[in-house]
Amino acid sequence: MPGIPVSDVDLYTDSARVAPYAIYDELRALGPVVYLARYDMYALPRYDEVRAALTDWQTFSSAHGVFVDREVNAQLEGITLCSDPPEHTAMRTVLGRPLRADRMREIAPRIESEADRVVERVVGQGRCDVVAELAGHLPMAVVSDLVGLPEHGREKMLEWAAAIWNTQGPADERAAAAGPAVEEFMSFAMNDAVPGKIDPNGWAAQLYEAADRGEISPDKCPMMMLDYVTPSLDTTILAIANMVALFAQHPAQWDLLRDDRSLIPHAINESLRLESPVPQFSRFLTEEHEIGGVGLSAGSRVALLYASANRDDRHYPDPTRFDITRRPSDHLAFGRGEHVCVGMHLARLEMSALLERLADRVTRFEILRSKPMINNGLRGFDYLDVAFEPAAAQ
Ligand code: HEM
Repeated sequence: MPGIPVSDVDLYTDSARVAPYAIYDELRALGPVVYLARYDMYALPRYDEVRAALTDWQTFSSAHGVFVDREVNAQLEGITLCSDPPEHTAMRTVLGRPLRADRMREIAPRIESEADRVVERVVGQGRCDVVAELAGHLPMAVVSDLVGLPEHGREKMLEWAAAIWNTQGPADERAAAAGPAVEEFMSFAMNDAVPGKIDPNGWAAQLYEAADRGEISPDKCPMMMLDYVTPSLDTTILAIANMVALFAQHPAQWDLLRDDRSLIPHAINESLRLESPVPQFSRFLTEEHEIGGVGLSAGSRVALLYASANRDDRHYPDPTRFDITRRPSDHLAFGRGEHVCVGMHLARLEMSALLERLADRVTRFEILRSKPMINNGLRGFDYLDVAFEPAAAQ
């Protein structure tokens, strides 16, 4: 049996968090599975293996955590993201009710009118920080209005969520610095975002009602409330900002989209494929398993490198080209299988509402300045200042 290629690359330096793609190229070239010596963890850098792992939860379990650090994995066992069927199925069914594709029709008018307002405002200004002033608006409005969380804490929400994501890598300085904000967020979930203090008609309240009906255990509710917040804010914000940056860099693609709005869903997929806001999660092997002719032992941790798989030229020809006619609906930026992003219809709705309005109002984007985000679980921009060339009034 051939040996497993070993790599000592560090995916958690500042530069690797900002520009991981050369490392991913190196890992994909090494083989279908690579041992990352620094983190005592295997990595799957190619498309086929990541996809196969995502659709085999019995072997690639989430129930022992999906992150890097052993302690964090142990602490978070049992949350939606870190569980297997049947426990996972029960939680996901309740959590996913307001997020189902058919429920999006009910909230679409609200999202679209918010998108109208925010695009009108920033285009009127002539320029804006896309992260704070454009992309942040819809996800924050959703958390405030639809999830129904108390006023107190809203202004802290982004800081808290980013802190949680920072604990998803190794136990490094970023993770340590996130500690106090994570504690505040947990205290908010346990003490403030509870019945009596939350909007009785919101999504959070529906979790407690499901617990009253015996569909889930009541002690799951605070962490499930966080499922509407932690994975929904930065992910969508970064995805929107990445998309605007790509169109700024590829004006001919923006012209294509403005001429043919049916390309919007494909543009969303293509930008998520090329610049995936969640570069990886991991799984735990429940039994010995062979990948590419090499055996991995039970109990191994295996990182699924979504952002690398999405640039695998074995699957996507000329993978670094941004091409909105490519139609890569099988990208892995939302994962796949049991844990495929439960909020993806909402994320798509928000992204497409903004693209529609921007396509009406903007002919060109120009990037004035930007700063990459450095976070252990996410990738994108801290800020992205963009100037808009407005379309002639119709
Ligand atoms: C563009 C934006 C988004 C991206 C890129 C994204 C990415 C992902 C990915 C990769 C997973 C799979 C996890 C795994 O494989 O273990 C996931 C799961 C999840 N996402 Fe998203 N997400 C986005 C938006 C949202 C939104 C808007 C929400 C909530 C309203 C949300 C809530 C969740 C939850 C709760 C899970 C766990 C699902 C489960 O374990 O069954 N996400 N997301």
